[in-house]
Amino acid sequence: MTKRVCWVTGASTGIGFETAKVFAKAGYIVYATARRKSRLVKLVNELKFAGHEAYAIVCNIQSERSVFSTKKRIIEKSGAIDILVNNAGVTIFKSLLDTKSPEFDNIMDTNLRGSYLAIKSVLPGMVKRKKGHIINVLSTAANSVFEESAVYSGSKAGLLAMSNVLRAEVRKYNIKVTNILPGNVDTPMWDAKIRNRYKNRMMSAREIADIILETAEQPKRVVMEDVVIRPIKGDL
Ligand SMILES: NC(=O)c1ccc[n+]([C@@H]2O[C@H](COP(=O)([O-])OP(=O)(O)OC[C@H]3O[C@@H](n4cnc5c(N)ncnc54)[C@H](OP(=O)(O)O)[C@@H]3O)[C@@H](O)[C@H]2O)c1
Repeated sequence: MTKRVCWVTGASTGIGFETAKVFAKAGYIVYATARRKSRLVKLVNELKFAGHEAYAIVCNIQSERSVFSTKKRIIEKSGAIDILVNNAGVTIFKSLLDTKSPEFDNIMDTNLRGSYLAIKSVLPGMVKRKKGHIINVLSTAANSVFEESAVYSGSKAGLLAMSNVLRAEVRKYNIKVTNILPGNVDTPMWDAKIRNRYKNRMMSAREIADIILETAEQPKRVVMEDVVIRPIKGDL
């Protein structure tokens, strides 16, 4: 069987890093992208050393040129993109009152516009081949209320709405669209103090990555649409 090609954005740390690993170990050809090259190269070298197929490409999800040239490089090397894991994301923990416009722009340009650009780049190929899977990493903040996360929630709720419409539009091409909505995950998105204090209340990035892989491993005619994942003890 030919290996499936998976592009994971935001793969330098956290959920994306673990997702790149679990897909590579499951036999996918993985393209790990983010801005921090040294972390990607280390990840990919470890995977290659263990006999897996993985490549690192620097890609700033805010830049249309960077996203489309990444897509082009993947296609040139591997011929097609079967799965896009739209994972790159940022946040700040601030009230709306205290949030500055550049902070708003940075969150929206990464989480919402960045995801839109990555989807736009892979979609024509998927439509042509009449198959593909777009997996968006959202958050329970997309549809729950957490103070000091207004802009982040807005970006994730926007992506949820966009993604739901996209799913309806691309069903006819056999393209699957999955929304992953995790609660608190122990990653560098949280500052060290919070991570130390609540480590036992948070899920691990590996646990989320394993579930992301599971959504990609469903039978052809099945799509896991929305996957809400919370720590057993609930939100922080
Ligand atoms: N941690 C949680 O509790 C939690 C809960 C629900 C959902 N999520 C979501 O999960 C996703 C991954 O977050 P995480 O928790 O794993 O945090 P993380 O460890 O901080 O990872 C964020 C990733 O996004 C990348 N990124 C940020 N800005 C980028 C840009 N402009 N271009 C390309 N890549 C960019 C970062 O790489 P570079 O800096 O190297 O570019 C990094 O690899 C995010 O979408 C987040 O919203 C997290």
